[in-house]
Amino acid sequence: MEKVGVPKAPARGEVGEHLSASTLLTGASFWDDAIFLEELERFFFRSWLNVGRSDQIPDPGDFFAREVGNESLLFIRGKDHEVRGFYNVCRHRGTRIVGETEGSKLGSLVCPYHAWTYSTEGRLVGAPHTERLVDFSKEEYGLRAVRVDTWGGFVWASLDDAGPTLGEEMGEFFARFPRFDFEGLRLGARRTYEVEANWKILGENYSECYHCAPIHPELNRITHYTSGAYTAYFMREPRAPNFNGGFMEFSKDYTSMVWSGYTKRPPLKGMTEEDRRRVDYYFVFPHLFFSLHPDYLMVHRLWPRSPHHTTIECDWYFDAGVMETQGFDPSDAVDLWDLINRQDWSVCQRTQLGTRSRAWRGGRFSGQESQVHDFERFIAARMREPLVKKPRSPRRRGLSRSRAARRRTR
Ligand code: FES
Ligand SMILES: [Fe+2]
Repeated sequence: MEKVGVPKAPARGEVGEHLSASTLLTGASFWDDAIFLEELERFFFRSWLNVGRSDQIPDPGDFFAREVGNESLLFIRGKDHEVRGFYNVCRHRGTRIVGETEGSKLGSLVCPYHAWTYSTEGRLVGAPHTERLVDFSKEEYGLRAVRVDTWGGFVWASLDDAGPTLGEEMGEFFARFPRFDFEGLRLGARRTYEVEANWKILGENYSECYHCAPIHPELNRITHYTSGAYTAYFMREPRAPNFNGGFMEFSKDYTSMVWSGYTKRPPLKGMTEEDRRRVDYYFVFPHLFFSLHPDYLMVHRLWPRSPHHTTIECDWYFDAGVMETQGFDPSDAVDLWDLINRQDWSVCQRTQLGTRSRAWRGGRFSGQESQVHDFERFIAARMREPLVKKPRSPRRRGLSRSRAARRRTR
């Protein structure tokens, strides 16, 4: 139980050390364009992002695109079967090359403007009427790459050429799931939502169940809002580098978060007796909600588009073998969560509106919001860190290795 009643609150806009003496972030952090751009730069463009599944693009030329802030990123399987990531930006005059969010079996990527053509591995292979250009070589004008790696069947991407590897950044989180076979899961359903709310309001909402009794009576029946425990914090003990979260336990003898409370599906491979009594919820900074249920995995990905607009992708994954059984029907989980999602987005949109009021000066945390407090402290600390401008690698500047080497020797 959190201690309450410490009399002196920190100055407005600060996030204090003690939950009982904290104000929330001020309204500007949910509305201000400059703060939003800084958050993109500090967090979204310097973290490993979970962008989708490897099995979404099984064949050469299959691709999907995702937008984060002002960036559009393209993930495509090459003819060599490698998945690569690129900025979706033509090297000629900057046009977005691909307009669709997904597609299959492209032979090449052709910019619609003047038909510069790139291979599925990102090389510029066609650029009409450039033969007589001076100091121009197609080799140096391939698509700008982003780093890509995989874990658990998921594709992860980082825009930070000089940042840590996926394993270095995410290893502690991955180490929580050694007994599960996430690669053996398949997408059972996806819902995409356009939400008029700042990404941090959505993150805060995921970080507490204080709202569950009034907002989610259906969820609260199956896992009571006071059940479970937190097992990871960004800033306090037990400390984790880039995720927080915990678990909630089923009331009565319920077995999953489905309409009836009782799932007909077997538990995922690796589930222990203890796992089967709970749902694990993790907020993986900055944009992934990872919710592991006994019989399915649900992930939300936040794609912030502006200070007050976020695209949210919600995916439900089931065991591939279970999905092939006759009568497989994910709707008992999907429809319930779709309702819960909409309940959340609705109240988050109202919060977004309220925080713009001139009357809003930040509030106080209840004893049920230690993870919201933790998240805000984390944001405040990360925003205070010096923003070191890292040297761009040759790859990011679009130079070939040989040309970069030549430049270094000059
Ligand atoms: S902008 Fe792409 S070919 Fe001209
Ligand atoms: Fe909720």
